[in-house]
Amino acid sequence: MRSNNCGQLNKKHISSEVTLCGWVDRCRDHGGVIFIDLRDSTGTIQITVDPDQGPEIFKIAETLRNESVLQIKGLVRARPEEAINTKLATGEIEVIAKDLNLLNSVQGNLPFTVSIHDEEPIKEELRLKYRYLDLRRERMSKNLRTRHATIQAARNFLENEGFIEIETPVLTKSTPEGARDYLVPSRVCGGQWFALPQSPQIFKQLLMVGGLEKYYQVARCFRDEDLRADRQPEFTQLDIEMSFMKQEEILDLNERLIRTIWKKIKDIELPRPFPKITWEESMNRFGTDRPDTRFGMELKDISAIAEKMNFKVFSGAVKKGGSVKCITVKNGNNLISNVRIKPGGDIFTEAQKAGAGGLAFIRVRESLEIDSIGAIKDNLAPEQKAELLKIADAKAGDLILFGAGTTQIVNKTLDRVRQFLAKELNLIPIHNNTDDWKFVWVVDFPMFEVNQDEKRLEALHHPFCAPNEKDLGDNPKAWSKTLPRARAQAYDLVLNGLELGGGSLRIHHAELQKEVLKAIGLEAEEAKKQFGFLLEALDMGAPPHGGLAFGLDRMLMLLTEEDSIRESIAFPKTQQARCLMTQAPAEALENQLKELHVQSTWVEPD
Ligand code: AMO
Repeated sequence: MRSNNCGQLNKKHISSEVTLCGWVDRCRDHGGVIFIDLRDSTGTIQITVDPDQGPEIFKIAETLRNESVLQIKGLVRARPEEAINTKLATGEIEVIAKDLNLLNSVQGNLPFTVSIHDEEPIKEELRLKYRYLDLRRERMSKNLRTRHATIQAARNFLENEGFIEIETPVLTKSTPEGARDYLVPSRVCGGQWFALPQSPQIFKQLLMVGGLEKYYQVARCFRDEDLRADRQPEFTQLDIEMSFMKQEEILDLNERLIRTIWKKIKDIELPRPFPKITWEESMNRFGTDRPDTRFGMELKDISAIAEKMNFKVFSGAVKKGGSVKCITVKNGNNLISNVRIKPGGDIFTEAQKAGAGGLAFIRVRESLEIDSIGAIKDNLAPEQKAELLKIADAKAGDLILFGAGTTQIVNKTLDRVRQFLAKELNLIPIHNNTDDWKFVWVVDFPMFEVNQDEKRLEALHHPFCAPNEKDLGDNPKAWSKTLPRARAQAYDLVLNGLELGGGSLRIHHAELQKEVLKAIGLEAEEAKKQFGFLLEALDMGAPPHGGLAFGLDRMLMLLTEEDSIRESIAFPKTQQARCLMTQAPAEALENQLKELHVQSTWVEPD
């Protein structure tokens, strides 16, 4: 239907006859001559329609609406000097239309302007409802092309390393990754349900037992969890698993993969090896296992000083087994007013949202005088004060903010406040070079965390991670004691405070796997019911293996410098897990439900 693409025409095509197809980006009638900007996926070109070329084509051009679909035949010519548009790649030429063929017209009103000339922000609900129109715009089209190029780079790299892509089932059994399952009722096996995979975790392990050795997959995963800007109910992982490789070898391979992607997409040579930090150090220094290392303001533990103070909020927290930590805002006295850190203030509110009861603070004045509430100021001996300022690395003019309570809440609070302030105070430098990309491996995660509500252990990643052998010890009889406190051979790759991917070495002995399942409350009977097939497989020659999965949508969000993963997905869902375009999820027909042996108990809330 066409001889060329709109965006690929240039001065070399002058005097050529071309046939083009595309959408009317906009139309301008300049008293007798009509200019059409014709757009296809490669760019835009100006078409000039002159009545001298025949009244029929002029008539069509007069009635054209934006986004009509056109085929045009014409002659490429140089634009007159004064009409050159330096902003447009094809701005030095135009096509004189000889024939216009309207392939499809637009009826009704367009919900928003698609044109490349229009940079007005459009409400996200509208963009999602009419996603096909949104995809015609440059932003989404560019993001999806970057997504494709990223996947292509990953495929090339992995295939050169001997990996093969294998698809794993979508109708399956629960694959626990800490979220709720999406369930699909079985028509044939009444009363039974498939779960959509939260990840291909168990299948990729079984592929290793199956001797495939190097697997990858661009895998769709489903998790019914609370959504945020970096989470979707349905998302894509770049999922990798390999046999006979040590942790160091797995990390090395993945660093090279990431480096290849960043080189291709951003033309940036990332320095290697990526820094490593243990989970414990990350929690101590940043209050989170997703440390943003682009700026300082790290957490400092002053529990030892606080414990001896007469200020009950501080000493009580430490005596109850918690901690007192602080962050120091450089020059904070000038930057932050009291109103913001007292109840009702925005910074105070951030602390509160993380669960803090209050946000104590000290302003450091000239000659290192401390300005704070009496309970703090009057309860610090001179040497305690000096020690505190030393640990906090505080100088005159600085503001110190404190968290006191359970270590978990203190970490959560100061992590949240630290990140909030980094944005507020523009502490994140932008260099447009390698320094903008702070990768860090977080290693040595604990195997378990305590579920406070149910007072039981939960796997921190998933229950298939191998424990650190030193922590576990050689005596299987002692495992029930050593396991709960063991570290896992697990690692997350964090980029600028966002978890980009995570993985681990896996358990490849059935006995140990049973012990881990027991630790999270699955006694032998239940473990067999849920994971009998895996336990059996581990007993039939499972090789040592491990791997990891990257969140592709998140990776793309960062590569395209967007704030939400919805910008890197063609048809994403809203925060309410709904597709605004198709209106899914929707009610099912009564007889469909009947066939599936399902009845709804849903009642509309008042
Ligand atoms: P994990 O649960 O850490 O590990 O997931 C791997 C990566 O997937 C991304 N991710 C998400 N992206 C968008 N929306 C979501 N709801 C969402 N949840 C997770 C994150 C995360 O780092 N089977 C293991 C991997 C392994 O051990 O090999 C797993 O799924 O970027």
